[in-house]
Amino acid sequence: MDKSTTFTMSIISSTILGSQQVRVGAKQEISLEIAARIDELIRKKAGKGEEVVLGLATGSSPLLIYAELVRRHREEGLSFANVVSFNLDEYEGLEPDHPESYWYFMQEHLFSQVDMRPEAIHLPSDRSDDVEAVALKYEKKIAAAGGLDWQLLGIGRNGHIGFNEPGSARESRTRRIILNEITRSDAAPAFAGIENVPTHAVTMGVSSILGAKEICLIAWGEAKHDIVREAMSGPVTSALPASFLQDHSNVKWYLDCGAAGS
Ligand code: GLP
Repeated sequence: MDKSTTFTMSIISSTILGSQQVRVGAKQEISLEIAARIDELIRKKAGKGEEVVLGLATGSSPLLIYAELVRRHREEGLSFANVVSFNLDEYEGLEPDHPESYWYFMQEHLFSQVDMRPEAIHLPSDRSDDVEAVALKYEKKIAAAGGLDWQLLGIGRNGHIGFNEPGSARESRTRRIILNEITRSDAAPAFAGIENVPTHAVTMGVSSILGAKEICLIAWGEAKHDIVREAMSGPVTSALPASFLQDHSNVKWYLDCGAAGS
């Protein structure tokens, strides 16, 4: 075992909570571990001449993961040519070049810096008048790609995953949703005021997310501690959509010390 391996293992601790695996450590080290898992999935499938279907997330939490993937692309020959991606959600009414659109975010932090095929990138955009048709098409595209191999999730302060706000059903699929006031106020600084934050979005549903073969939820900082604890060990309820992850058999919760309360 080399020195760096020893170092990584000593600062990330692993716990099992019911059927759920919890990894706790420094945000930087955890992000590297997750990027390494994505790298492994991509290369394994590429070796078999297959595509890998990744469910991707936005927000501040995945930034270090995307930065590490870009580094691996540049320095270690990691190719994204066999990657098909489906993002969790997108705001309604924002043009792709709006700096707060999730399209813009993904281009800036990942897609424009790696060799993704443009046609393999999917976001549930609502730039059509017929949002229901867009949502249905999105579900069909995920199914046609063979389903999600791996899904990345952040968690909102109100327990949302994607934009599945409190009240979202276990059976929910991709659809239009009204954004909750907590979600909108958390986004307000980035939009220079809550009045500029969109009121609606399109999001993959809880059921769409639970269809992934493997799920990785990341949460950083003390502000996420209470909601993470409730989601992992409280009742499974639509009042806290992340709690539905307790029903999935292959979820890893990656927490920094603030979120873990340790
Ligand atoms: C937004 C996104 C979620 C994300 C959440 C948390 O609401 N729609 O997918 O998980 O923000 O963001 P952050 O990672 O910045 O805490």
